[in-house]
Amino acid sequence: MSRLEISPDEFRRVALRMVELASELLSEVHSLPAFPKTSSEKTEQLFHSDLPESGMGTSALEILPAMIRHSRPPTSRFFGYVLGSGEPVAAAADLLASVLNQNLTAWRSSPAAVTIERTVVEWLAKAIGCVGFTGSLTGGGSSANVMGLAMAREAKAPANQRGAQPCVVYASDEVHMSIEKAMALLGLGRENLRLIPTDQNFRMSPLELERAIHEDRRKGKRAVAIVASAGTVNTGAIDPLAQIADIASGHGLWLHIDGAYGALAAIATPEEFAGLNQADSLSLDPHKWLYQPLDCGCLLFRDAQVARTAFAYTGEYTRALNQDPVEAFSFFEESIELSRRFRALKLWLSLRYHGLTAFREAIAADLSHAQRLAAAVDSTPQLERLAPVELSAVCFRFRGESQDEGHLGSLNQAILKRVIERGRVYISNASIRGKFALRACFVNHRTADGDVDAVVPEVLAAAAEVQ
Ligand SMILES: Cc1ncc(COP(=O)(O)O)c(C=O)c1O
Repeated sequence: MSRLEISPDEFRRVALRMVELASELLSEVHSLPAFPKTSSEKTEQLFHSDLPESGMGTSALEILPAMIRHSRPPTSRFFGYVLGSGEPVAAAADLLASVLNQNLTAWRSSPAAVTIERTVVEWLAKAIGCVGFTGSLTGGGSSANVMGLAMAREAKAPANQRGAQPCVVYASDEVHMSIEKAMALLGLGRENLRLIPTDQNFRMSPLELERAIHEDRRKGKRAVAIVASAGTVNTGAIDPLAQIADIASGHGLWLHIDGAYGALAAIATPEEFAGLNQADSLSLDPHKWLYQPLDCGCLLFRDAQVARTAFAYTGEYTRALNQDPVEAFSFFEESIELSRRFRALKLWLSLRYHGLTAFREAIAADLSHAQRLAAAVDSTPQLERLAPVELSAVCFRFRGESQDEGHLGSLNQAILKRVIERGRVYISNASIRGKFALRACFVNHRTADGDVDAVVPEVLAAAAEVQ
């Protein structure tokens, strides 16, 4: 018997220990500091070691409480970046997914799992008003964006066979950096991403977009796609999707919508997202605003044939073996990935367990928490809000008496550092038209009004300490 085999009883002991630790963590989640008292010295000393040649058995688990203590806990006062809070039913499902160890290349390798992933993708599409779209789960929004642009390139300027042709793509100057990365990775080049100016609400200007397209056409440039943002990472601005969709179709361009941050909020406020269903491809991230544990992104598309043109390498031979459209289905022909984990199990169980209404309510609560913080900032004379709050991101800064931009930047950096050290709330930062901003983003199902109300006093206390 392989040394790697463990008995079902031993597995139960190991797994129960994990479950015990996870439950303890969840029981403390509202009282733990938003950031652990740790340092690189401590984490290196505790966790950096040589690879053991001989196994330690269950004593290998003894380090886990320390590992948890030195991790950032999933608290109700974490408002950094765009990081979902990790729904526990989904987390438990991840354990089962790993034991089952399905490989979701194709139906024939994982019949139930592939059917479940296709089902949850259909659920997501329907929940945000994109009925008829299909797609697949991805490692996150960045991979979904690469895939969306790969589809755009293959649809409008085919490159898979002969290599990329020079062509341009349009996005707003608030677009997420993963789009620039995708341009680089796909051989389109970062310089060929035209950054269209945004209006005072940080939304792409359709007028400027039209102007840029005409200008490029005049210069003989080949345009392939527009990337619209449904929730920019900095301020949560939603580009005018319907207007941009009309421009895209008028010029025969692919429309990719980066909805990694915001698109799932269409579950709660569909009226904000008119035009979402006019995308050719659309990224969304259940590991952000559907509270799923990492990782769980998704790319939706309107026409699966275009995905196959972009990603199928093996031709149609698999299809020839089976005429049944479900049994012949292969994710790897519509995705970058071949081996694919069973990400869908957590999402499927989490949605079945709680139901869509519970998620809709949690998203609506996040939206109202952002408005609540915005109101608190607006009524505090020492603070200045730096952007409208369209979704759940609030960008602001400490202003005090100072008018000196350089000083305000370094002062707010120091405040941010101090807020995190104080450990009562966790916020992050953004650059708003060149200004250093403190940024709180609500995609946290654990947050209550009281947690939101802690932000302003913490910022003021940190400001008093650093000044
Ligand atoms: C608008 C937007 N697009 C893309 C991404 C990248 O998503 P991921 O971190 O899942 O790769 C993010 C991440 O915050 C984002 O906010």
